[in-house]
Amino acid sequence: MAADLSPIEKAKFAASKRAVDFVTDGMKVGLGTGSTAAWMVRCLADRVREEGLKLTCVATSTRTADLARSLGLTVVALEEARWLDLTIDGADEADGQLSLIKGGGAALLQEKIVATASDRMIVIADAAKQVHALGAFPLPVEVIPFGWIATARLIEEHLAAQDVLGHDIRLRMNGDRPLRTDENNYILDLHLKRIGNPRALALMLNQIAGVVENGLFIDICDTLVLGHPDGRVEVIADDGARSEGRVDIAASANIFSDLGD
Ligand code: A5P
Repeated sequence: MAADLSPIEKAKFAASKRAVDFVTDGMKVGLGTGSTAAWMVRCLADRVREEGLKLTCVATSTRTADLARSLGLTVVALEEARWLDLTIDGADEADGQLSLIKGGGAALLQEKIVATASDRMIVIADAAKQVHALGAFPLPVEVIPFGWIATARLIEEHLAAQDVLGHDIRLRMNGDRPLRTDENNYILDLHLKRIGNPRALALMLNQIAGVVENGLFIDICDTLVLGHPDGRVEVIADDGARSEGRVDIAASANIFSDLGD
């Protein structure tokens, strides 16, 4: 039941429910990855069931594709969809310019490809993800396994000239082995504490051989939808325009009963 959800899950749900209002019949929709995006997939599947919307979806990870298909959504490869009307995804941090850190769920590469192949990207998050400056959350960087230690060393050397506070780089593990992404790469988490110039850092990282992509999303997000535990939702556009609304969390009992509670 909705009452059993933690405050943070209620906030994620509220943002997700509001964001799927932007989806209209016939759209091609990119589906993000992570716990917030999973709520969004459930809300979207609910609209498809209730309203008979015809949507074509492209997932940003195998786990999102599995969830979406299990709920009856049509999921195709990006090659088949070619271009998308809208992508809705979560984020680890978002700043005042709607620059993001993403990749906490290790799906940043497909997420960036799908988001940049979309006319519009909407980011959904609980309000605590909005930050003054990016960087408290470790920045994920996807690297080719071949020579990853040399790649990490080059990143560390180049960080010296960047406006960041920390320089610690850690290989993300899955138990006692390096975590593998859907593309079979590794993730390096950069503990930078504060990123003064995200654009310069993103450019530097992508120039290093061995780096496939970094988790900074700059000039990609068009709209940020922030949820609060009481159902309040803020919608922030990239031109700074803000509006506020409210989602009735208790009224969505059908989605929570789908979860088996
Ligand atoms: C997945 O790789 C990430 O980019 C997620 O979108 C991000 O980590 C947010 O995840 P949560 O919604 O689970 O916090």
